[in-house]
Amino acid sequence: MTAVERDDRLLGRTATAPSATSPAAVTEDPRWWRRAVIYEIYVRSFADANGDGTGDIAGVRSRLPYLRDLGIDAVWFTPWYASPLADGGYDVADYRAIDPAFGTLAEAEALIAEARALGIRTIVDVVPNHVSSQHPWFLAALRAPAGSPERSRFWFHPGRDEHGEAMPTDWVSNFGGATWTRTVDAAGRPGEWYLHLFAEDQPDLNWNHPDVRREFEDILRFWFDRGAAGIRIDSAALLVKDASLPEVPDKPGPGDHPSVDRDEIHDIYRGWRAVADTYADPKALVGEVWLADVDRFVRYLRPDELHTAFNFDFLAQPWSAAALRLSIDQARAAHAPVDAPATWLLSNHDVTRPVTRYGRGDSSFRFAAKRRGTPTDLDLGRRRARAAALLTASLPGSLYIYQGDELGLDEVENLPPERLQDPMVVRSGGVDPGRDGCRVPLPWSGSAPPFGFSPQDRHADPWLPQPSSWSALTVEAQRADDTSMLALYRRALAIRRTDPDLAGEAFTWLPSGPDVLAFRRGHRFVSITNFSAGEVRGPEGAELLLASHELRDGHLPADSTGWWRLYDPPGDGP
Ligand code: GLC
Repeated sequence: MTAVERDDRLLGRTATAPSATSPAAVTEDPRWWRRAVIYEIYVRSFADANGDGTGDIAGVRSRLPYLRDLGIDAVWFTPWYASPLADGGYDVADYRAIDPAFGTLAEAEALIAEARALGIRTIVDVVPNHVSSQHPWFLAALRAPAGSPERSRFWFHPGRDEHGEAMPTDWVSNFGGATWTRTVDAAGRPGEWYLHLFAEDQPDLNWNHPDVRREFEDILRFWFDRGAAGIRIDSAALLVKDASLPEVPDKPGPGDHPSVDRDEIHDIYRGWRAVADTYADPKALVGEVWLADVDRFVRYLRPDELHTAFNFDFLAQPWSAAALRLSIDQARAAHAPVDAPATWLLSNHDVTRPVTRYGRGDSSFRFAAKRRGTPTDLDLGRRRARAAALLTASLPGSLYIYQGDELGLDEVENLPPERLQDPMVVRSGGVDPGRDGCRVPLPWSGSAPPFGFSPQDRHADPWLPQPSSWSALTVEAQRADDTSMLALYRRALAIRRTDPDLAGEAFTWLPSGPDVLAFRRGHRFVSITNFSAGEVRGPEGAELLLASHELRDGHLPADSTGWWRLYDPPGDGP
């Protein structure tokens, strides 16, 4: 290969379509989740086949070749079950039925099988902390009297004062506001209160109740029997509550919080693991565990509990070599004793898109810090997001990609207020801009909305409006541009899939300046990310495999990542 040809390949300008290296069948690795690339699909916003402005399963099926060509191993579908969509589907009315807006159970089964034939496993989202207020169990509980068996599956409680008007605790909802709503009977008389750690449409289940335990183990089997290869567990650390309902202490010690990370929760996941382990086809349990204490976090990953959990600490870090290095070190050190793989992710359907976040003065992520009108340099953000994509894709462990990040979509921050749907907006009195901005339907093709999200000839408006600036970010436009974010992702995932050094888990930091992250994987793979404003020299005696930005004379420019293969592994030279 001449130098020019090699250079042409670096930014994705390759004559060989990455699909040539894409899988034809799922890997037979019995521990496939340890290094899988998992693509998160927010069904409502992925692709709309029937033209009603809402994404659907038929839309996903029509785009499976796109996912195959991207080079992923699995898809994770956010909830697609029957739901009033009070919280984007995280309010489930029937865990065994697909919402008619998305399709049918038969279509879901067909999708799981078709994806599998293309080498893509399916992970479904199970929401065990709460159900929809339209779930039959909750409707029955509302009709039943205080103290009834129907109510005992939830947290119904009288008010604290004589007239029952003061709510049982002052706990604050994860969406802001109160965690209790008072019931009113058919005659309009106020009665007991019920607990909801999220919105009032999401009553919390009582996990001390055997019906609840049985029901969810059965739901797991239902989806495993239909070919699901894994379960993403929503709000996985919140299920168990202290039944004495104390207030939240000022500084709760480990296991002291009345509704977060209680010790009894692990017993539930041991039961789930036992269910998963009955299948010959390996099933993975993935926890959504938001915990600051990494030692408590990895307790969920002990060998008889979950297989992996989202590494939110990494996601939340600012664009800083020191902060990311510390997070990587802490995650690796904490995961090692339980022999679980670390996971790496830059975003999901709950957080600000990386392109926007990395373009800000404070590029860390915190729900509490989300504000409208934060000055943002999108060019800088996109540049850093490219560098972050390569950094993240070369770390040992599994990788999550949220739909649209591979296109470099930005957070849509000027959605008309009347179109916003996220309960966080209303419950915060409009202070929190909510999560709709990262959930806007994907742009596939064309130069005007709906950008191929819905059929061009007949369609309702997309459920959230797409910005006109996305005409440059459509899949179609990026396919035709070898320097696009999509081309970078496809090339990176193809290398990740085929490079023997990335197949293992070996990882070694290389000496570098403070604003640089440099590491070796296996014998010969080197990744360098330059966080400084100046240039950084690439390694000697190495072939450049891929770079997020063009190198100048072998130097990596500011805010970029390069991947190299050493000609001679260290120690093997003369
Ligand atoms: C999880 C989901 C989020 C949802 C919440 C309540 O955090 O990711 O979207 O709102 O749980 O179910």
